[in-house]
Amino acid sequence: MRKGILLAGGKGTRLYPLTCVVNKQLLPVYDKPMVYYPLSILMLAGIKEVLIISTPSDLPLYEDLLKDGHQLGMRLSYQIQTEARGLPEAFILAEDFLQGAPSVLILGDNIFFGLGLQSVLEKLSSQIEGMNVFSYPVQNPQDYGVVEVSPNNKIISIEEKPIAPKSNLALTGLYFCDSRAPSFAKKLTPSARGELEIIDLMRAYHQEGALSINPLGRGAAWLDTGSPDSLLDAANFIATIERRQGLKIACLEEIALHKGWIDQFMVRKTIQALKSSQYKIYLETLLAQPMD
Ligand code: DAU
Repeated sequence: MRKGILLAGGKGTRLYPLTCVVNKQLLPVYDKPMVYYPLSILMLAGIKEVLIISTPSDLPLYEDLLKDGHQLGMRLSYQIQTEARGLPEAFILAEDFLQGAPSVLILGDNIFFGLGLQSVLEKLSSQIEGMNVFSYPVQNPQDYGVVEVSPNNKIISIEEKPIAPKSNLALTGLYFCDSRAPSFAKKLTPSARGELEIIDLMRAYHQEGALSINPLGRGAAWLDTGSPDSLLDAANFIATIERRQGLKIACLEEIALHKGWIDQFMVRKTIQALKSSQYKIYLETLLAQPMD
């Protein structure tokens, strides 16, 4: 069974002073903490067992927020990353947790939304071999990992934050890996900026002919939360859709209920523990609806 890793550490320096005393991935994106969105993506991919990685001071806050996951029919575990030594370190820290299982790593600051996303995620989740990543067209590729592909989707180059990007295709922070990820990650050496680079892990898979790029269509949204402006844009995007539809994006209890991981009794228990809020009212409406 594939397991999930949610990387939610780092210093969030680009959002200072917002991140002075609050971990970036706990900041609000409209009506929920940021971490709800990537966690919901793991859930939509069918992943019930997740390791959450964060800094020594912030990890207890994630545990307070998300507990052991039983309220969502999940198993959540927690792991400290003492310093931000790079994204591939997540696979090394998760090695004992994974116990040889394939994994999916999601960055705690990545927000995805779009039609058909769930079926794409489920499909990739069931693929046991190789590494699968997503590309997405952006106006500022120099701020991301960038992939250059041929017209028949063959990888020509992958670079991290290139000064002169060879394409407009950014690599998102969602990485499906087979069971070799921890051993590949352990062989990487830090880059000039002193971090293990996810691009180097991709290159290791690519050398084995085992890296696939999955284009995320323009109908999907991949939102950035790295600057005050992009954080506000993300919040406005979520607010616009939620207010229009009267439905919530990344309501964890709703996803768990629809997946059959929890029953209405469990949702009722969660509701009982909540003080009055919009979120509570939303959960109550879920119980009033017939299940499909
Ligand atoms: O968001 C997608 C991009 O994420 C990719 O296009 C890039 O290839 C990838 O390197 C990464 O770029 P970022 O500049 O966004 O990475 P950043 O160092 O900001 O880390 C992303 C998140 O992961 C951030 O919220 C903090 C967390 N993190 C990061 C590192 C390096 C950790 O928890 N531990 C770490 O060691």
